[in-house]
Amino acid sequence: MVKLSFFLLLLPLLSCSASQPQLVGMEKPVDEASALPMLHIQPKIYDLGDIQEGEAAIATFLIRNNSGQSIELVDIQASCGCTAAEPDSYMISPSGFTQLKVAIDTSAKQFDIKKSVYVTDSLGNTAKAMLVFNVVENPHLQSAGKIKGIFDGQCASCHFEPLVNTIDPKTLYDVGCAMCHGEQGVGAYAPRLTNLPSLTFLSHTIAHGVGRPQMPGFSHANGGPLTDAQIQSLAEWLYHLPKEADESLSSNPR
Ligand code: HEC
Ligand code: HEC
Repeated sequence: MVKLSFFLLLLPLLSCSASQPQLVGMEKPVDEASALPMLHIQPKIYDLGDIQEGEAAIATFLIRNNSGQSIELVDIQASCGCTAAEPDSYMISPSGFTQLKVAIDTSAKQFDIKKSVYVTDSLGNTAKAMLVFNVVENPHLQSAGKIKGIFDGQCASCHFEPLVNTIDPKTLYDVGCAMCHGEQGVGAYAPRLTNLPSLTFLSHTIAHGVGRPQMPGFSHANGGPLTDAQIQSLAEWLYHLPKEADESLSSNPR
């Protein structure tokens, strides 16, 4: 615990002197290093606190090589296209480390967000780091009319285009809704969809949205990717999913 807070204190300093990470006394006694995972990211969880919507959430992690041989970072993955992760160096010498800068586009995000980044090295070791933050409304964005939604710009490649020619309602749900509402409508970042009052409420909400950039209207008339026929079949498929009596099961399975 003492160590973790030590790193948390150091990280802001580190990101200002990005070119010389070696200056920060990272060397550890050998016996301690051997207890660490071969590929080690610190901190495990980086809490950025409140961030205004539309501002980038940026954090710098340290990746350490405890394997005793030189490694190359061969894969760095984030699940959402809104997340970019770039190391200072892909090569890490034995007992050396590099910095990993992670930047997240917070457009159309709201409330508590968790994003994970997965790193794999040339020896097959993997490590995971997580960024958590709370997105708060940004009055400047609103008054400038600059709020970006999930259908805008590069977001469309995942949140709009894959839906356009998809007919089967389950597939449509899986490619266009599950990322927010969870598998089979059980709820995740966005609410559960299996206990809604009526078919009409469902199709109306899908077509018109809820007036928020993360749940815009999906109908063509509202600038969305779906035809009325697609919306109708999707609403019917959702309406016939098994209902869940116990609402407590619907809260954030992430
Ligand atoms: C490469 C595909 C891809 C792109 C591009 C993309 N997203 Fe996503 N988005 C996802 C996936 C997958 C998820 C599910 C959560 C996860 O795995 O991170 C997601 C989740 C979300 C969520 C739910 C909250 C969350 O972060 O978990 C919001 C809001 C969102 N995206 C908005 C956007 C916006 C706005 C853009 C454009 C700036 C965008 N996305 C670009 C794939 C993408
Ligand atoms: C980027 C994330 C995201 C995607 C993708 C998304 N939604 Fe939503 N949706 C939300 C959020 C967030 C809310 C709740 C908004 C609020 O109440 O502020 C919501 C609300 C809803 C509601 C109203 C729920 C209620 O309890 O009143 C329905 C119905 C719905 N979404 C259906 C869908 C369907 C169907 C799809 C796929 C075509 C979809 N959504 C895609 C984020 C998303």
